[in-house]
Amino acid sequence: MTLQSVPDLQHRTVLLEEAIEALAIEGARADGIYLDGTFGRGGHSRLLLERLSPRGRLIAFDKDPQAIATAQTITDARFSIVHDSFATLSEALAERGVTQVDGVLLDLGISSPQVDEAARGFSFRFDGPLDMRMDTTRGMSAAEWLATADEQTIAKVIRDYGEERFALQIAKTIVARRAVEPISGTRQLAALVAQAVKTREKGKDPATRTFQAIRIFINKELEELEIGLDQAFQHMAPHGRLVVISFHSLEDRIVKRFMASKANVPQPDRRLPIRAVDLPQPLCRLLSRIKPSDAEVAANPRARSAVMRSAERLPAPGAT
Ligand SMILES: C[S@@+](CC[C@H](N)C(=O)[O-])C[C@H]1O[C@@H](n2cnc3c(N)ncnc32)[C@H](O)[C@@H]1O
Repeated sequence: MTLQSVPDLQHRTVLLEEAIEALAIEGARADGIYLDGTFGRGGHSRLLLERLSPRGRLIAFDKDPQAIATAQTITDARFSIVHDSFATLSEALAERGVTQVDGVLLDLGISSPQVDEAARGFSFRFDGPLDMRMDTTRGMSAAEWLATADEQTIAKVIRDYGEERFALQIAKTIVARRAVEPISGTRQLAALVAQAVKTREKGKDPATRTFQAIRIFINKELEELEIGLDQAFQHMAPHGRLVVISFHSLEDRIVKRFMASKANVPQPDRRLPIRAVDLPQPLCRLLSRIKPSDAEVAANPRARSAVMRSAERLPAPGAT
């Protein structure tokens, strides 16, 4: 079955109302420019468009060609879609002559259609090719990487991005097996990992951590998150909102540290004769940390690990 012939699987948007509320698209802010860095199937984007005035604008991004195909069905003049990482947002804004935005939303990770489609290779629940690329038009697949990377590198990726205790044993098993046959399928990899993982975590498949790690590595998820946050903040208008939904602790730690670094700017030694007005001022105000309600998790178990953080860009001292 080709990717094109696969029916459009559904994505259930996590923290839909909460994320759009956090962007505070009200009053004059409804005329603003907003970015959705992770369009997916457009759940957040569609509600955001409903809240915008006729003068507002939404620029969305996604790396996934199937997400782009869905976005191209939206015929709203206020909306445009960029087939690229949100880590290229500065470039995309420059191309459109935009210098400042009023809000940026990132709903990180992968969408349900990506996980549920065997041909994408994200899940060991289905047998499929070990691809795992969000952007299937470029870059190296997981199978290509596992065929060539050295044992130490494979172990490091699985340890760092999967927080997996048996990373070295898994890497050794992979390297030994690939001398016999190529490692090209999801179930094949899951079975190899299960051989190497000696203890079982309750309610967790032994391959979960390894699949998460390889996916994060192949898609450069953490590097792009750091770059995307930085660029989003550089372009944020005074009172602009940054709203990020994370699905695992590695992502959430990056978001938390980033927001804290803008909210708590280093202060000089208090013994120095510096006037209060000349002290470095915080660049943002932390707004909230929200988790999905029990009802949302019951209706959509994939929401269970979600954490949403939001922050507001503060105007320069003296400005409004
Ligand atoms: C959780 S889904 C977003 C779902 C979306 N909010 C909705 O309601 O339909 C994450 C999406 O972000 C995309 N994505 C993840 N990292 C990305 C990045 N660095 N740049 C652009 N798109 C990214 C994935 O391809 C996926 O389609």
